[in-house]
Formats: sequence, C-alpha cells, structure tokens
Amino acid sequence: MLKKIPFRRIRWPGWVVLAVIGLSFVYGMTQLIEAIRFEPVSDSVSPLTNDYKTETKNTDTYTMSINIPMMEDESIKKPIQRWIEHEKEAFLEKVKENKNQLGNGTRAHLVIQADSKKSTDDTFHILFHSYMLVGDVKGKEHVKTFTINAAEKKIVKLPDIMKTNEESINMIGNRLMGHPESKVQKVLQDPASWNWSLNEKALTLYFNDLDEYGPTQVNIPIHAILPYLDERIEGSLKVAKASVEYGEKYVALTFDDGPDPDVTPRILKILKDHDVHATFFMLGSQAEKYPDVAKDVAEAGHEIGNHSDHHKDLTKIGKEQMVQEVLASSKKIMSATGQLPSVLRPPYGAINAEVERFAQDSHSTLVLWSVDSLDWKNKNVNAIHSTVQKEIAPGAIILLHDVHSTTADALPGLLAMLEKEGYQFITVSQLQSKLTVETASPFYGNMKKG
Ligand code: NI
Repeated sequence: MLKKIPFRRIRWPGWVVLAVIGLSFVYGMTQLIEAIRFEPVSDSVSPLTNDYKTETKNTDTYTMSINIPMMEDESIKKPIQRWIEHEKEAFLEKVKENKNQLGNGTRAHLVIQADSKKSTDDTFHILFHSYMLVGDVKGKEHVKTFTINAAEKKIVKLPDIMKTNEESINMIGNRLMGHPESKVQKVLQDPASWNWSLNEKALTLYFNDLDEYGPTQVNIPIHAILPYLDERIEGSLKVAKASVEYGEKYVALTFDDGPDPDVTPRILKILKDHDVHATFFMLGSQAEKYPDVAKDVAEAGHEIGNHSDHHKDLTKIGKEQMVQEVLASSKKIMSATGQLPSVLRPPYGAINAEVERFAQDSHSTLVLWSVDSLDWKNKNVNAIHSTVQKEIAPGAIILLHDVHSTTADALPGLLAMLEKEGYQFITVSQLQSKLTVETASPFYGNMKKG
C-alpha cells in the first residue's frame, strides 16, 4: 500500500493570497515582494551569477517583479531572456483579458524569483519560480530550470548527461504514479524539455503539467540514477560513498503495512534463518488486530516503526487527524509489542511541514526509503530481485511490504543475493547512527531529530 516517493509541492500560503487581495492598495511593490519571497535555498552557489537584478514595473493595473540573473555569455543569456519574455507576455495577456476587474486599487501581479544551485564541478542550475495573481484568481506557479555548464558556456539538457532510454524512462514513470496516466505519458515523451536539477544526493524533476495546483517535484535518489548517468558527470558529482570508503556495506530492510497473520510469520522465519534484523513499520490498526504477530516481531529483536493507524496520507487530513493517526497507532503498537516506536514512516512517504514539525516535537525520526522494491506492484519474485539489484547501494533503505506472499517468496533469494554482494543488514536506526552528516538525505531517512 506504500506506493511512491513523495511529491513535494511548493505551496503558496493562503494568507499571502488574502493579504495580496485585501491590501494590495496599501502595500507597495517592495512589501509585496518581501511577503511572497521564496525561502532562499541554503546551498546556493552561483559560479556565474553573483548578481541578480530585480526588474520591477508598477502600473495602475499590475505590478511585475522579476529576478534576473546577470549572465555575461550571450548564448546562455538569450534562452533565459526568451523564457522571461514569454512569462511576461502570458501575464500581460491575462491582464488584458481581465482589464475590467483591474484598476482602482486592484492590481494583477507577476513575481519571478530566481535561485542558483551548484550541480557538478562545472555545472549549476538556475531555478525560476514564476507566480501570477490576476484579479482574485490565483495563477498557477511555474518552475523553470536552466542547467549551465560554466566551463563550456552552454545550456545542458537532461538527455545530454543521462541515458533517457526505455529503462530509465520507465523507472522515472514509476515514480509519477498516482498522477493522471495520460498526462504522465505525455511528459515522459520529451525528456529534453524537463525541468531538473542534480546534486550528489538526487535528481530532482519539476513537472508543471501533472497537477492543476502547481508544480510536482519528484526526487529520485542518486543511486537510482547513477546507472544512467554519463560517466564524466558521475565522476564530478562526489556521490556520498562514506560507507563504501570504510569498507562497510550496510543496508536496512524495511517492511511496511503489517503485521499480517500469514506473511509476517513467514518473513520472521526467513530473517531468523539468515540472522538478519529489519525494521517493521506497522499500522496501528493491524497491530491491534494481530497483537500476537506484532509481539513476535518485537520479540525477535526487530525494530518497530510507526506507519500510522489507517494508512492515510498525513498531508491531506488536517493537523488534528494527522496527530491522531500517529498517536493512536503508537499506542496500539505499544500495547501489542511493549515498544514505543521512535521511527515514523508516513504512508506514501507524504510529508509536509506540519508532519515534520509534529515528528520533531514527538521525538520521532521520519524515515523514507532509497530503494523501492516495487513488491506491492509487481508481486513477482524475479521482478523484486532485479529491481533491488539495480538500485542497491551501501546505506540504502529498502522498501518491502510484509502483506504480500510474493514478498515472502522473494526474500530468501533477495537476502542470498545481497549477502553474496557483501551487504550486511541492520535496522534503520542503526543505519542512521552510522551515516555521517554528509550522507544524510531524505532518502536515507529524514534525520529530523527532536
Ligand atoms: Ni504503506
């Protein structure tokens, strides 16, 4: 039931919109920009763009504020300017369409913010967030990225640095599941048009057209991308390989959605045969239904995690219910196993600021995964083996589900394969305590400790 890597949407706070609508006649340009300025990205590095200039325009019917990176090279400057012009034109077109509603204190707004991020040794990204507000109609936010090779002074498209073949496109498509199939198929057809950024932890894709509310952001862990990356890029990415350097190959197996009266005992037996400890992210409702099975898991020495009470998307049910889902589950797991879970894996990997804050306040560590075995989807032993084999790397957290009998069928072969490759198995918490700060990323578990 756990299906996807989290899609983090950049949300526009509601109060900003209200403030803009209600107070735009009071607020001048500067205040407006201040109010809706995007949080600066902490690792901003801009080898070519030390300077941004902000172009503003202020008329009776609209305001524009556009953050423009100062680029020397014409071949890079041009496509960026073209995109900005395009945004402006689209905005002015909207202003024209709505001119009856504008004026007398009501103005339309266009804000474009730019940010730069270092990628590899010689490339960096410029990310634009473009936002329109026309009358009281909240326009859709856009993300646009430009990747620039500073040494060669040229713009880099995703297919320039990575193999976009059927296999890699499928892998990316799998991570877009849950969005309308026809839209997904459409965006998958043209990787050269994708908005993306890459660092040593992940490839991040930004799709503007999958969701009507705003851009969809998809993070793909670097270890899933490495097999397709151009070797030169890989070499200059400095992918965190701390545990490799120390000669240790630890991974964590995680089992979600149980306990299940049929599958969980089979998995316990196999783990015992291999002398392996894993982490079980239980649903409170399941632990309540099958307390003996839950207890067996704990007594076998496995780590117990919380996966909410009823497997609801914690970002969509409001704060009160979110808290209730987590606490009720903790309580039920505690009463079945005698252990209070200290790791929390939100269903669907769905996290927002509220979930993060609550996890922090309640001293729970949020844990996602880096390798999705797709056992919930493929329900096929060979497919599980090959999916894991392709994406496995030291430090990985492997997502499995102890509710499908095929997962239990696949486990002996999976363990044998990984053992042969020299991997050792530890729990998620043990793994996190071994990882250095440099290797910490949401894909190794969100290291948000309260
Ligand atoms: Ni799940």
